[in-house]
Amino acid sequence: MDGPGHTGYASRFLEWAYAYASPLYDLVVWWGFIPLGGEAACRREFVHWLRLQPRLRVASLCCGTGSMERAMLAEEPSLSITGVDLGSGQIARARKKNPETRVTYVLGDAARTELPGESFDRVLIGLALHEMPRSTRRAVLREARRLCARDGRVLAIEHGRPLSHASRFLRGLWWFFWIPGNPEVPTSRDMQEHGLDTEMRECGLKVLEHHTTRPDWIEALFSTPTPVRQNRV
Ligand SMILES: C[S@@+](CC[C@H](N)C(=O)[O-])C[C@H]1O[C@@H](n2cnc3c(N)ncnc32)[C@H](O)[C@@H]1O
Repeated sequence: MDGPGHTGYASRFLEWAYAYASPLYDLVVWWGFIPLGGEAACRREFVHWLRLQPRLRVASLCCGTGSMERAMLAEEPSLSITGVDLGSGQIARARKKNPETRVTYVLGDAARTELPGESFDRVLIGLALHEMPRSTRRAVLREARRLCARDGRVLAIEHGRPLSHASRFLRGLWWFFWIPGNPEVPTSRDMQEHGLDTEMRECGLKVLEHHTTRPDWIEALFSTPTPVRQNRV
């Protein structure tokens, strides 16, 4: 699955940024989490929502620069983790951040990982679906479902739907939604309007728990695969 020239991104800018500007990515993320209490505290909270146990097998789809894998290992060092990302710069940085042999990184498309089905107890999709057009989001959700063991769980962490106008406005301001041509704005809006819970259900995932950060800028849906028969509409 390793190889150059992936074009699975919604825009050329994202493709370039995730190949060549990964050090900047960590800085932008650090900035983004400030109003939510800081990146370290938020990532600890995300890990808590994953309900980890010793020796679980975890897939981290769209793993970015490896910050979630580092947070997971801090909580539960016996995990075996496979991270998948399309960005060569992201994967290179993730490998440096997590040199442990229990963590494997794969450069590739989370919509078609070629990893064995039902081989993970937890599948995490962290803050990536909002950057994708609906068809790609659905393909990634279906792939997460395929990878997840029958009694496993899929956690999708995403841009939430702030209840108040003020919260929505502040988030847009802080997260640079006002920059003309920001490629994540239309896809994020489409995801929020359609509803991530609806999309997960349509892709064979039954939502068990719904979490939100404070302020309500990020939401997380903890789900389990529904039996295949129920998915045939
Ligand atoms: C906003 S970052 C989130 C990274 C990380 N999960 C985190 O929590 O910091 C989105 C990531 O999704 C990756 N990505 C986008 N589309 C992808 C796809 N189809 N397959 C794999 N990775 C993808 C990007 O390369 C980027 O690293």
